[in-house]
Amino acid sequence: MITKSVPSPFSRRLLVLTALVATLVGAAAMAPAFATGDELTMYKDPNCGCCGKWAEHMRANGFKVKEISTPKMGEIKREAGVPQALGSCHTARVGGYIVEGHVPAADVKRMLADKPKIIGISAPGMPQGSPGMEGPYPADRYDVVSFDRDGATKVFSSH
Ligand code: CU
Ligand code: CU
Repeated sequence: MITKSVPSPFSRRLLVLTALVATLVGAAAMAPAFATGDELTMYKDPNCGCCGKWAEHMRANGFKVKEISTPKMGEIKREAGVPQALGSCHTARVGGYIVEGHVPAADVKRMLADKPKIIGISAPGMPQGSPGMEGPYPADRYDVVSFDRDGATKVFSSH
């Protein structure tokens, strides 16, 4: 006669399996906390060093970054609709928007969340102290500027 109070080896194995599955499901549910999963494609000149540093900054903030080296950055920026006055080194595409230069990840996330009617945002030039431009020099104050299809530009954030 089998007593019901002692679990059979089979049900014990089932218990372990259930616990394992629960752990895996839990880990999968937590993944978004580490990665936004937003895929970002960054175009950069093969000789640009700070571009790679900005890519690292974006990865550290949860973006999946694909880097494409090209000598045709002028063409890429023109096609992207980046106004000449707002140009920087790299040009990135994410979620249907353009990100030009060393824009902080927090600004990119705000744009993706708010979905404004703009082409994208830029940190014109190469401001010292912006993400990827950290160094021994004192940090610049700089504005991240949005640009739209009508050629209008607006301060998006100040740093
Ligand atoms: Cu740069
Ligand atoms: Cu760059």
